[in-house]
Amino acid sequence: MKVLVVGATGTIGKAVVNEMQGDNVEIITASRNNSDVKVDITSEESIKNMFEQVGKMDALVSTTGAAHFGPVAEMTTEQNLVAVNSKLLGQINLVLLGLDYIEDNGSITLTTGILMDDPLVNAASAAMANGGVRAFVKSAAIELPRGIRINSVSPNMLEESKEKYGSLFVGTEPVKGKSVALAFKKSILGAQTGQSYNVY
Ligand SMILES: NC(=O)c1ccc[n+]([C@@H]2O[C@H](COP(=O)([O-])OP(=O)(O)OC[C@H]3O[C@@H](n4cnc5c(N)ncnc54)[C@H](OP(=O)(O)O)[C@@H]3O)[C@@H](O)[C@H]2O)c1
Repeated sequence: MKVLVVGATGTIGKAVVNEMQGDNVEIITASRNNSDVKVDITSEESIKNMFEQVGKMDALVSTTGAAHFGPVAEMTTEQNLVAVNSKLLGQINLVLLGLDYIEDNGSITLTTGILMDDPLVNAASAAMANGGVRAFVKSAAIELPRGIRINSVSPNMLEESKEKYGSLFVGTEPVKGKSVALAFKKSILGAQTGQSYNVY
């Protein structure tokens, strides 16, 4: 099975790559730096180049997507566009531009996050992108061709990210990277579609 992981060098991406390693699995890593294939998900051209290089695959996984964190009352429209162009449209463009490269009965798994369900101060833009991705996934699932499935994974803050995000996620019990990676594995190897797997 051939699996492309976009964002593979990140905290969640590394956990997914680690969980998916196996005898019959070929993993191709993608990100802007230090991966098998270079891609910037904010650029359609870059996404097209990535798929041309990678060719057909059984599973497309995205564990990436940036967002601006800051107070709504001070947020500029440009700052809000970070999440729109990266986490929301970047991931959706992976689907739109990548569909022809997914084998019959293959799968797509995107990343959202708990902030869409459990609001935190300074996180509205990220929540917007998360909710948009989840809604897109639920809706797209009923019309994807050739038996292709699509799901998203919504993680809580990972234990591995506590230093980075701990001050934002006050009062949160972090989850294990392995638990998050298993949700991706369930999406890739399971049979469900249109789901949002919450790892809270
Ligand atoms: N970590 C958590 O606790 C947590 C919890 C809930 C949700 N999430 C969400 O999960 C996603 C991944 O989080 P993470 O903590 O694993 O992030 P991370 O450690 O910062 O890793 C991000 C990954 O994406 C790549 N990347 C960044 N911008 C990119 C772009 N424009 N095009 C292509 N690749 C890009 C990075 O590599 P390069 O910089 O080399 O491109 C890296 O491989 C984010 O959307 C985050 O909001 C994370």
